[in-house]
Amino acid sequence: MHTYFAGHGKEPLWTCTTGDGCSFILGCPECQSSNRRTLPCGRQFVGCDTIRTPGTLVMGGTVRIPMKQNGSGFFPSIFSENGESRPMYRRLYEWIRSAILTGQLRPGQKIPSTRYLASELKVSRITILCAFQQLSAEGYIDSSPGSGTYVAKSNPDQVTRLGFGKQPRLINHSQCAGSRRISRLSAKLSPFPTLPFGIEAFRVGLPALDHFPITIWSRLVARHWRQPKKEMLMYGDRMGFGPCREAIAEYVTTVRGVRCDASQVMVVNGSQQGLELSARALIDPDDPVWIEEPGYPGAFQALRGATSNLIPVPVDDEGLDVKEGIRRGPNARAAFVTPSHQFPMGMTMSPARRMMLVDWALRNNAWIVEDDYDSEYDFRNRPIAAVQGLDTNARVIYVGTFSKVLFPSLRVGYLVIPSDLAPAFCRVRQASDISHSTLEQAVLADFIREGHLARHIRRMRVLYLERNQRLVAEIQEQLGATVEIVSAQAGMHLVCLLPAGVDDTIVWQRAAKAGVASWPLSICYQTKPQRGGLILGYGGVDRKQIPDGVKRLAAVIQEF
Ligand SMILES: Cc1ncc(COP(=O)(O)O)c(C=O)c1O
Repeated sequence: MHTYFAGHGKEPLWTCTTGDGCSFILGCPECQSSNRRTLPCGRQFVGCDTIRTPGTLVMGGTVRIPMKQNGSGFFPSIFSENGESRPMYRRLYEWIRSAILTGQLRPGQKIPSTRYLASELKVSRITILCAFQQLSAEGYIDSSPGSGTYVAKSNPDQVTRLGFGKQPRLINHSQCAGSRRISRLSAKLSPFPTLPFGIEAFRVGLPALDHFPITIWSRLVARHWRQPKKEMLMYGDRMGFGPCREAIAEYVTTVRGVRCDASQVMVVNGSQQGLELSARALIDPDDPVWIEEPGYPGAFQALRGATSNLIPVPVDDEGLDVKEGIRRGPNARAAFVTPSHQFPMGMTMSPARRMMLVDWALRNNAWIVEDDYDSEYDFRNRPIAAVQGLDTNARVIYVGTFSKVLFPSLRVGYLVIPSDLAPAFCRVRQASDISHSTLEQAVLADFIREGHLARHIRRMRVLYLERNQRLVAEIQEQLGATVEIVSAQAGMHLVCLLPAGVDDTIVWQRAAKAGVASWPLSICYQTKPQRGGLILGYGGVDRKQIPDGVKRLAAVIQEF
């Protein structure tokens, strides 16, 4: 049984096309009366006699109609398919009902007025009223005069458990019909180990967030937001915001011995994007590329999208073994390296190896991508200058980040690019995310220029040294000779080698269950490592949390 509500005025009326004996209630949506020819509002029905005239409401084309924003958010779009045979009021009814049941429309959410919907959908208000009347009759929506129409606080399907089931939001799309093929690359990339928020000991890559000068940062954000220049709100330059690039150029020149000017600096969304852009700008499919063994899994991920020919080159106490690299892949197109603080093992590449690497790159027309992710935290206070500064032939792409020195969700990293490569990097950047948020770059530029960055780094260096020493002492005390600690006097993480034969992925999983975060060392290898281990981050762990974290970790390790 279908119920049609026909309004007054000269609107064309229509019939139910299902032909199943619908009843028609004639009424005025405004004065709420029904079955009368003369309404209390004084207007007359016109066209009541034509109500049985056959006809369907035809919608043209496939249209997507954005709906008006309401008090609690946005009203979802309504889709109207071409060639639909069901009457429009029915389609609208079903669409709203399904939006309520799937949670797109939330209990208590306001529904736009019939007038607004009628004008947006280019149908009569009667159509909208018919749909609303049905929804109201079934308890999906509530209307109150003068206040509008709202999604009911509870819907009938929740009560009866009919229709869309218990958890309509959790649709398992993998069971939908048809091939669900994805690219070979996306299937090949493995996810990083993640744990729920709240676990800090010993999360890798987490700085001391509670020591970040948030008041200063908020003041700078407010300064730029108060009366933002148009430039702040427009699409930004592919290379980045001028003042920010200048501040970064000054910083890396002074602190890291990088040789550059601001025109070579590209501000990116974290150094991970810097690695990915470098891979896409420099490498062709099947080009051989040296990667460190062990090395940074994020670099492997970035490179796998560019080439399938990764050549693992071992690292030793002096960093990347360049001679071995030449033996394994003399004609490599590039080498992706972490010379200042090797990830994950922590050694610094010796000056001799640096020279060999630069020399190899020059002779072979190869590129060096230098990932300098946390060299600010060298506790020995004698950080070795970047390889980029040694290179006189512009073969190095230098990658830096503010994730460790500020906070990771900022997603600001930077590349220092040889000037002739800048256009190529801009082209791949354009295909990726266009540019980084200008506002954040403006804030960062002030933060650097006003000396806050330098002060923060100095304070964090002291703090991380203390946390490093505390963690080392605690592991030695609680685990003794069971494990071997590989810890440089730098950075925010160390490696704890496990007893021979112990599978680090199992230890990592069990530690996670015990509430301790880490990374299994084996994810940093292309081949099976001789000895497994855990990478433990200490940057974001309060000194007092360290003993408890190690205690829980020790309990897990001692089970093996
Ligand atoms: C060696 C190395 N490179 C790059 C990154 C990525 O940093 P970002 O947050 O800047 O993308 C990390 C993060 O931990 C890292 O350890």
